[in-house]
Amino acid sequence: MTNRVTPYDTPGRHGRCRAGDPASFESSFQAEITNIYSLTAREKLYQIQLVDQEERNRFMFRPGQFVMLEIPGIGEAPFSISSSPLRHGNLELCIRAVGNLTNFLDRVRRGCSVGISGPFGTHFPVENMHGQDILLIAGGLGIVPLRSPLWEVLDNRNRYGTVDIIYGAKRPVELLFTYQYEEWRQFDINLQITVDQGDKDWHGSVGLITEILKERLNRDGDALAAKTCAIVCGPPVMFHFVCDMLIKAGIPMQKIFVSLERRMHCGRGKCCRCNIGSTYTCLDGPVFDYWSAMNLKEAI
Ligand SMILES: Cc1cc2nc3c(=O)[nH]c(=O)nc-3n(C[C@H](O)[C@H](O)[C@H](O)COP(=O)(O)OP(=O)(O)OC[C@H]3O[C@@H](n4cnc5c(N)ncnc54)[C@H](O)[C@@H]3O)c2cc1C
Ligand code: FES
Repeated sequence: MTNRVTPYDTPGRHGRCRAGDPASFESSFQAEITNIYSLTAREKLYQIQLVDQEERNRFMFRPGQFVMLEIPGIGEAPFSISSSPLRHGNLELCIRAVGNLTNFLDRVRRGCSVGISGPFGTHFPVENMHGQDILLIAGGLGIVPLRSPLWEVLDNRNRYGTVDIIYGAKRPVELLFTYQYEEWRQFDINLQITVDQGDKDWHGSVGLITEILKERLNRDGDALAAKTCAIVCGPPVMFHFVCDMLIKAGIPMQKIFVSLERRMHCGRGKCCRCNIGSTYTCLDGPVFDYWSAMNLKEAI
């Protein structure tokens, strides 16, 4: 047995505002940062391993789920799991330094002890997409949650039809996971990258994701709707344009999945910070089909 990480005390924890959350939500594991890689000036990839081997083997998650990462004495925050679900308790989190906890993380070295709680939330139902063509569309940091369903698809490549990734960033220096593009392409993936603004070394596409998407949607014509599922991750403004195009191309809203990363605090349905009406994005999300997301007032 390992020592449990002492739960970080937050005011909302004591006042449960949603009944029936499973006991497993309280799972908190001692973990260690085993490697840190700088991906861009603002984002780092943290490889994190649960310390206890049994817990590591038992820790299972689905693509699209998130964990709460705790730094004792500093706080905790939600982060999408960006690694393959096959790797159980060996997690990869890609984290942008924006505030208190993430700037602290930006300065830690490998070997640092952290707490991991979870996994939490709903997932991309890739297991229901077998036989379908898969469209993965990401803007900016949206590639982080999208990388986990991507690994699941790559690990089971023959169960899916064509796989397209359309990924856009503002500038070439902001592109994440550049070292993996060639590896992904080896799995017969059509990876298309675009930036809003190129630089002198950039020879790829310049323009919006929607321009590349338009070409892709035209490719299959009327057959597209019946055989395509889409996963869209990125800033809210992107959802509107991208999902509108997908719907106009005939893809049913129920086959379009989005991840809504609303401001969360406890991640466990207790603090009432993430709810939209009676829907808690930490419990009922973060992954929604677009039909459900559209029916959540102010969600996107
Ligand atoms: C389900 C989920 C998954 C996430 N996955 C990732 C991920 O994979 N990688 C990653 O880098 N970030 C992710 N985030 C965002 C991450 O949780 C926040 O960046 C983090 O909580 C910031 O903590 P902090 O203490 O460093 O910042 P704070 O000191 O709390 O705040 C600093 C600034 O960041 C803004 N901010 C803080 N939290 C959020 C938030 N949740 N959403 C939007 N703005 C916020 C604040 O408004 C403020 O301007 C995710 C959020 C959710 C809800
Ligand atoms: S209720 Fe606390 S984050 Fe959802």
